[in-house]
Amino acid sequence: MKDALSADDTSGARPLYAVTEETLGSWLDGMSSEVRAWVQANDFKGKPGSSLILPSADGAIAGVLCGISTPADIWDLGGLALSLPDGSYLLGGVAADDPKAAGTLVLGWILGAYKFRTYKKDGRKPARLVPPKGVDLALVEALAEATYMVRDLINTPANDMGPTALAEAAKELAARFGADYAEVVGERLLEENYPAVHAVGRAAADAPRIVELTWGDSSKPTVALVGKGVCFDTGGLDIKPASGMKLMKKDMGGAAHVLGIAHVLMALKADIHLKVLIPAVENSISGNAMRPMDIVSTRAGLTIEVANTDAEGRIILSDALARAGEASPEMIFDFATLTGAARVALGTELPALFCNNDALADALLASGTAVQDPLWRLPLWPGYRKMIEGSTADINNAPEGGYAGAITAALFLEKFVDAKTPWVHIDVMAYNRSSQAGRPEGGEAMGMRAVANLILERFGKG
Ligand code: BES
Ligand code: ZN
Ligand code: ZN
Repeated sequence: MKDALSADDTSGARPLYAVTEETLGSWLDGMSSEVRAWVQANDFKGKPGSSLILPSADGAIAGVLCGISTPADIWDLGGLALSLPDGSYLLGGVAADDPKAAGTLVLGWILGAYKFRTYKKDGRKPARLVPPKGVDLALVEALAEATYMVRDLINTPANDMGPTALAEAAKELAARFGADYAEVVGERLLEENYPAVHAVGRAAADAPRIVELTWGDSSKPTVALVGKGVCFDTGGLDIKPASGMKLMKKDMGGAAHVLGIAHVLMALKADIHLKVLIPAVENSISGNAMRPMDIVSTRAGLTIEVANTDAEGRIILSDALARAGEASPEMIFDFATLTGAARVALGTELPALFCNNDALADALLASGTAVQDPLWRLPLWPGYRKMIEGSTADINNAPEGGYAGAITAALFLEKFVDAKTPWVHIDVMAYNRSSQAGRPEGGEAMGMRAVANLILERFGKG
């Protein structure tokens, strides 16, 4: 992450002039006729995302001109770190006037420098950006580091990111920030009353577990984060077709997201007591796998009719949400790669937000807009509660027909949350299907900055 920043070393940095389509003309007025001719010859108009290297008389690079949006868009500089020639670049031009906008641009630059390098160590080093004065580097670095962690966790294939490895990542994060760490593994899940986590994960060679990270002063308001940690989703006995299974290493994306948020909150010393819960399992097939129409009991006491073993996320989240409620939290946020239906409704780039509290939902949507990390609200439509009623158990995990699949999944989770506790559920893709500036193909944090920003604004930081 840090190799895309050059915060203190400005010596030898080339100027990177940010202009907009509107300000390009006045910028050119202050330049030599050679520069004006070069810009014209290259037909550079200041379009957001475009850039132009400016030569010096001796054939070296004098600087770079880049186009940004009004207001500045986080991805405006997202394509530069891995496309500009190696070296460091001092961000100036219109970006120097507004530290908050500059911080957003710097974050986009760093996010665009990401490559998943664990297994294939090729490729160039990113060019380095020197941020202008006034940028909140602690915030930018925390968000960048958290995003890199989320991407790495999701990109790591399931053979190296099973429940044990995912739990280990949570443990390392806890150690780094002095948080308490606990896990309940395998058969002990039954003794400690996490029957739903056990039912989904018991068929896997890597034992299921629930991970609990606790940080901060317990006299402060508790914020609970819950993340779906299905390290691989074969679908179980209701096995997925090859095309649907291919990307399912990303099914622990919810867990990665809540670890990313925890990273930001702990790094910036949020004024809260934090509780992170991750049910970590593999939805596998073997002789002891959960079967269609098995009835699974839950920590909360409700029984679940397993209409489809591929609707496993909501089953494990039921125990984790019940556990989160036991901490009497001020609010609960859960992230989950829960349904294909949410992707049909909103596509891959827009996470679906469900919330039982209108004021919190509005605040979170506004936060997402403010930090350019958008969410879109879908309803916890009461009229569809009848769809998740079970015939032989309290609730059914996969209603017939699949209509409103994202909503019925959210309504299922709602059963495990106290109606008086403000609760946010985010159904997220957690993956870029193809590369765009700043967002390489692969694991992605979506909605993470929106939630982290809301919590920091609501409760303050140290
Ligand atoms: N992990 C999947 C959901 C998913 C699939 C998210 C593709 C993003 C992309 C989840 O466990 C699942 O399989 N859900 C089923 C539920 C259905 C059986 C009720 C789905 O969405 O098809
Ligand atoms: Zn599934
Ligand atoms: Zn799943």
